Amino acid sequence: MMIAFAKRFLLAPLMVAVVASACQNPAHNTNDNLQLSLEFVDKQLADAVTQIKVLADSVPTDRLPRTFQGDSSVFSNTSWWTSGFYPGSLLYLYEYSGDEELLELAKDKLSILEKEKYNKGTHDLGFMLYCSFGNALRLTGDTAAYREILLTGAESLITRYNPTVKAIRSWEGWTYPVIIDNMMNLEFLTQASKLSGDSKYRDIAVTHANTTMVNHYRPDYSSYHVIDYNPEDGSIVGRKTAQGAFDESAWARGQAWGLYGYVMMFRETGDKAYLEFAEHVAAFLLNHPNMPDDLVPYWDFDAPGLSAESPYAAHYKTNRDASAAAIMASALIELSTFTEGAEGDEYLHSAERILEGLSAAPYKAELGTNGGFILKYSVGSIPHNSEIDVPLTYADYYYIEALMRYRRLLDGKPVVG
Ligand code: GLY
Repeated sequence: MMIAFAKRFLLAPLMVAVVASACQNPAHNTNDNLQLSLEFVDKQLADAVTQIKVLADSVPTDRLPRTFQGDSSVFSNTSWWTSGFYPGSLLYLYEYSGDEELLELAKDKLSILEKEKYNKGTHDLGFMLYCSFGNALRLTGDTAAYREILLTGAESLITRYNPTVKAIRSWEGWTYPVIIDNMMNLEFLTQASKLSGDSKYRDIAVTHANTTMVNHYRPDYSSYHVIDYNPEDGSIVGRKTAQGAFDESAWARGQAWGLYGYVMMFRETGDKAYLEFAEHVAAFLLNHPNMPDDLVPYWDFDAPGLSAESPYAAHYKTNRDASAAAIMASALIELSTFTEGAEGDEYLHSAERILEGLSAAPYKAELGTNGGFILKYSVGSIPHNSEIDVPLTYADYYYIEALMRYRRLLDGKPVVG
């Protein structure tokens, strides 16, 4: 979206009335503290069910939805990094609605996705297999169907770990590139340890998270996109970007991946260092002078300040990334349950503001439009001139997840089931 939004203070009048809570984790957020109603959340989830059925009607049997561009749906094969999000969204919406049709649609896709458990050519197996099969196991309890798939996949993922670098390799090419996005694949490993009783997956996840904390982050708690290592000695050979505006910029989705990753690592390990780190990352995001008032970030936090010499300046100073906002909302909801006082309230109410914004025009599509995707105005990669101002399957997934997490708060339950 290339217009700047008018300033909006969606929840400001309510926010001043908030009373800081001193409750203990994980039930920091009491019903009194929640400013979105069950009716609001249920309306958004019911609309999501309607939309995903529109989408389902167009998805070929052997493909997964990716985006909708120029009035055409774009689908992927199972090896594309986003292949787990559509079945994951179906499963969350099955959890919400109890609609068996959604479970069957998800199972159809799980059956074509299963072969990716052998894929050793990507670090994205957490996105692909945990958002899909992890949710399937959580909701059905069918260990006979899903345990082996998850553990085979986790075994494939850890083949990409190098103990000298102390991190999992993200991509081929470069020297030994590790991207901040890779924090999102670690929950798959911590869960694989719980499922198998073997701590090796979790140990790798912890080591990777620790390495990333030291090497990916700048003193202001913004993250580089890519750290390229020398695999022989673990030294850093480059601090780069692939999807951001320039190497020293703060690519928005990368910042959101990092926030989510460290909140998740605190939940999984109880290590306070991760919680404190996530709080610093949240402060970087929420206090950034270029953060718009609706908290839907520009595709890169440095985009509004791009100089005329930048290849992206002419067109892309004001593009928002709804996917980054959805990821942030989901992470902030969970973080708000771990942090007491004014900060915890700020995380919660920031997530609420994001969900309110995404649940209305211009971000939320009219039902029956947008190829059946829920949200508009995400950005895949501006440097690659790919997926600009479009819906994206992962924007919808994290938006649905955030709504489901919020619904659990309204029910007085821990946000992660
Ligand atoms: N992991 C790729 C992306 O966030 O675009």
